[in-house]
Amino acid sequence: MSDTYYVTTPIYYVNDVPHIGHSYTTIAADVLARFFRAAGRDVHFLTGTDEHGIKIVKAATEKGTTPQALADDVVTHFRRLWVDLNISNDDFIRTTEPRHENRVQTLIRELVARDEIYLATYEGWYDETQEEYVTESTARANDYKSEISGKPLVRYSEENWFFRLKKWVPKLIEHIEKVNPKFVQPDARRNEVLSKLRMGMESGELADLCISRNKEKLPWGVEMPNDPNHVVYVWIDALSNYYSALGLPAIGDEFDNRDAKYWPADVHLIGKDILWFHAVYWPCFLMALDIPMPKCVFAHGWWTSEGQKMSKSLGNFVSREKIAEYCEEYSRDVYRYYLLRAVTFGSDGDFAHDMVQQVYNSDLANGVGNLLSRTLKMISKYFDGEIPAPEEDVEDVRWVKTAAEALHDNAVGWMDAFAFSKYLEAINALIGATNKFIDDTEPFKLAKDEAQRSRLATVLYTCAEAVRIVLLYLAPVMPDKTTAGLERLGLTTTDENLTDAGRWGGLQPGGKVTPGDPLFPRAQN
Ligand code: MSP
Repeated sequence: MSDTYYVTTPIYYVNDVPHIGHSYTTIAADVLARFFRAAGRDVHFLTGTDEHGIKIVKAATEKGTTPQALADDVVTHFRRLWVDLNISNDDFIRTTEPRHENRVQTLIRELVARDEIYLATYEGWYDETQEEYVTESTARANDYKSEISGKPLVRYSEENWFFRLKKWVPKLIEHIEKVNPKFVQPDARRNEVLSKLRMGMESGELADLCISRNKEKLPWGVEMPNDPNHVVYVWIDALSNYYSALGLPAIGDEFDNRDAKYWPADVHLIGKDILWFHAVYWPCFLMALDIPMPKCVFAHGWWTSEGQKMSKSLGNFVSREKIAEYCEEYSRDVYRYYLLRAVTFGSDGDFAHDMVQQVYNSDLANGVGNLLSRTLKMISKYFDGEIPAPEEDVEDVRWVKTAAEALHDNAVGWMDAFAFSKYLEAINALIGATNKFIDDTEPFKLAKDEAQRSRLATVLYTCAEAVRIVLLYLAPVMPDKTTAGLERLGLTTTDENLTDAGRWGGLQPGGKVTPGDPLFPRAQN
């Protein structure tokens, strides 16, 4: 049995169509899923949509439709975008599906049985855009507006069900501090969560969590199984998707335990704005139910566009249409590559047309694209398209081999640590070392001297082998282009485990190569 790897994205609200932010998390998750599948793990990759709550009701009302009709429409945009971006998710969950709703109710019933929830009156501020109650001091500090959207807070007074959150916080702090120091990543976010938890405990402001909403005000949700006057708070409903999608807990339907072996999740990838829900509410909820916690929650940064916060009125919104334009101009692989290459995962990034072009030209057109076409052309010209056999132990091959080995030996570790930048840097270092090797060894000169024939064979085998390894490791990020590149090298993408296939020396001499048009033609201004 191979190791399992379960990666999730947030489930996206269906109040509006998808944009770059949604595509970012989903692409990152896809790259992890593809990489670990290639590395031999048994991967499960989940995404989906979050369809209940006040946000959806309001958007539906504004559009003159019903929440269900809005969800049914918007979900198709997400699904289509994931097909367009070559996302390889294994499952797609909608929170309005019975398989999910019924399991949420079972989890709530279990909380009731364990005396983890109680009825009380809540009086205070509510942030409708974030679907969150806000303490008086936070409300005051933000001028009674949402910290995230800037929209005015709303005064709520309701009888509601509360989850005994405070009771679990000391155990959570211990978990993050000692038991699993990698639980919240990156480190800066972990420190942020820890200090907010400690401050909340010390000041007494950290309250139990209200997990229901009055059904008269908000009928669009999962009914509380113990109280028909209430629906489940949308965040509790939503977070449960990571568990319910696996067919957990068992409730006696056809989904029971279907993918149970994947729990606990290896990582929930999320944006930094929804960290608190994932790093605090979700693990406490699981502890109260005696369910193992996910291994890690990784919060990435936010994208601005052309140097400014994205907004429809500014015209810099990277919408689904805009993404389609980039895919048309550069290919979907390039869009995927840019998002992971432009910033360290965890930091904020800016999506700017000039930058896309710069990265495209330097890494792809001049980098891997040029290396592939140089190599194929020389093998065609000097060896009639047949990959030559290398001599043994040639001194200057060492630099290329070392770069390839550094990539091979560290790739799994980097991906386990979500260090996409290091992974891509190592690929680019191998490309750079190989291009330099060509410049240093001057194969076009060697070709003029018959006595240098076997040295020329070594040089070109080395280049072809380096390109093969580059393409294999780029494949999770750029599945289309790398398949095309490998085909030109006479290779099909195989089921062979990346850990073996990515080792230096795997390329068999004698294979036929076919040079074609450039994989990444230079982009002009
Ligand atoms: N429905 C909740 C998540 C529930 S998960 C149990 C939600 N949905 S969302 O559609 O509003 O946002 C989903 C993700 O998009 C969040 O992780 C958020 O960080 C991300 N982004 C939204 N705008 C973004 C950028 N401009 N840049 C990067 N990511 C951004 O929250």
